[in-house]
Amino acid sequence: MIHLIQGDITKFEGDAIVNAANSSLLGGGGVDGAIHRAAGPELLQECKTLGGCPTGEAKLTKAYKLPCKYVIHTVGPIYRDGKHGEPEALRNCYANSLKLALQHDVKSIAFPNISTGVYGYPKSEAAQIAVQTVKDFLSDHPGMEVWFCCFDDENYRLYQQLL
Ligand code: AR6
Repeated sequence: MIHLIQGDITKFEGDAIVNAANSSLLGGGGVDGAIHRAAGPELLQECKTLGGCPTGEAKLTKAYKLPCKYVIHTVGPIYRDGKHGEPEALRNCYANSLKLALQHDVKSIAFPNISTGVYGYPKSEAAQIAVQTVKDFLSDHPGMEVWFCCFDDENYRLYQQLL
């Protein structure tokens, strides 16, 4: 089942939250910065052991001081013009995060709007890809509860329309 909320993903009390990281996995601004701040410095220590993460893939860590159990770090595409594999890469972020969640028996997971901040992905296109990819996954795995956690009003409105 799909749910929609607006707010700060670090408050999510389900099993896992997804981080829109960069390929170093060593922290940054936006949602990545918020997650590292709320989780505490042990999160960075664990991330340092992971050797980074390619675009479209996902890696899992513990969540430390966050109220969830795991953080799934995925790396969205930096948007150029949509003709450099960005849609496929963004789909992979959602699909690979969900696959990893399943392997760790995660039953509830919250996603931020990956790539729609600093990485510049057009919000409407990104929302369509996110919703479609999650729906495809849920048709095979109906037991998972997926939350889209929108921070800004524009994304929240777009998801309200799509859902
Ligand atoms: N909770 C939920 N969503 C948030 C939060 C929050 N606390 N804060 C921001 N957002 P961005 P990207 C939303 O820039 O575009 C980092 O520096 C925000 O409104 O965080 O994938 C990384 O280290 C936007 O819709 O991620 C990378 O270098 C969405 O999160 C780079 O930014 C994503 O915006 C990744 O860029």
